[in-house]
Amino acid sequence: MASKVVSSITRIFSPRLTIRLSIFGTLVGGTVLLRDYFGGAVCKSENCIDGKTVIITGANSGIGKETAKDLARRGGHIILACRNEDKAEKAKKEIIEETGNKDVVVRKLDLASLQSIRQFAKQINKEEPHVDVLINNAGIMRCPFWKTEDGFEMQFGVNHLGHFYLTNLLLDKMRSSSPSRIITVASLAHTTGDMDFDNLNSESGYKTADAYSDSKLANVLFTHELSKRLKGTGVTANSLHPGVVKTQIGRHTGMHRSGFSSFILSPIFWMFVKTPKQGAQTNIYCAVASEVEGVTGKYFSDCAEVDCHARGRDDAVAERLWLESARLVGLDQDGVLQESQSPEATDQTRTEKSQQSQS
Ligand SMILES: NC(=O)c1ccc[n+]([C@@H]2O[C@H](COP(=O)([O-])OP(=O)(O)OC[C@H]3O[C@@H](n4cnc5c(N)ncnc54)[C@H](OP(=O)(O)O)[C@@H]3O)[C@@H](O)[C@H]2O)c1
Repeated sequence: MASKVVSSITRIFSPRLTIRLSIFGTLVGGTVLLRDYFGGAVCKSENCIDGKTVIITGANSGIGKETAKDLARRGGHIILACRNEDKAEKAKKEIIEETGNKDVVVRKLDLASLQSIRQFAKQINKEEPHVDVLINNAGIMRCPFWKTEDGFEMQFGVNHLGHFYLTNLLLDKMRSSSPSRIITVASLAHTTGDMDFDNLNSESGYKTADAYSDSKLANVLFTHELSKRLKGTGVTANSLHPGVVKTQIGRHTGMHRSGFSSFILSPIFWMFVKTPKQGAQTNIYCAVASEVEGVTGKYFSDCAEVDCHARGRDDAVAERLWLESARLVGLDQDGVLQESQSPEATDQTRTEKSQQSQS
């Protein structure tokens, strides 16, 4: 009997099987370790944000939605600033169900429309007694040569100009809510960006990937200049890279649209790419961590301050981009809305124009 047991054990654990099992085990273990490594750092702060108001642009999906979920769990009053109200309402429902925090609201914001940004800012400035954290998260990547409602190239218009305009229109509120934090989600792609002031809107030559990198460099430069302009106010401005994250951001790329390449590359991506929850960690860290209190003009990745590319810290280029952006969206160089661009003036002009066209 005993010899039978021994012989079957020997059969089961034959050297060949043992080698196969250990190779399999090593592969599984290695995959788990790699996945864990590429998952990046986790925000360890347990700070609650009861009584604080947070605005997150593009909060209906991806990194923005996961950021909103986490911050809702910490007790904040969360404003989902989104262009598609149906998607935003679905996200709101999910966030409330998962976190139990009912203080989550949707406000319409289309960053591809200056009028929408003005209306959003007007509503926030009127309704909200304070805004403690603004997370400029929304983004569009590698779309065709599209233009915003106001004629700006879409990636530059939404990723940079839209957030530039929004931030400036909320700046008095952020100042009066000090200490407050402005966080702009840039990308490692800023390292390949370039500020061509003769072609900011890609009129003479459009390359989808270059336009995205340029817009992300603009995010970093904007933060650099903004932090200088806000010195001494208690309002901080930082930008960050969330990591490479599996979200909808690649929706306009060939790979995303091709079922075949998605199918082939998905397993590889699964190993090296963060989940939206992992991708949200640096947003959350910059929004709540005590270590970041008072820290401004910095660039973060994996919940740590790191150096951005030298191009992102170029004082002269950052100032020039600020002035040019202000001119394009109709702000004066201090970020104040010019008389002719005030919501009332613009709405009046629209009414006059429509009356003229009707007569
Ligand atoms: N995923 C990555 O690997 C990665 C890497 C580096 C940086 N980032 C940055 O991370 C940020 C979040 O992106 P994600 O990865 O979470 O992608 P996502 O899932 O596509 O989310 C982007 C969000 O931006 C919104 N948005 C786009 N255009 C808008 C507009 N005109 N007005 C208002 N909202 C608009 C989208 O709304 P709709 O759903 O209505 O389109 C969506 O809610 C972006 O700034 C992106 O550049 C992402």
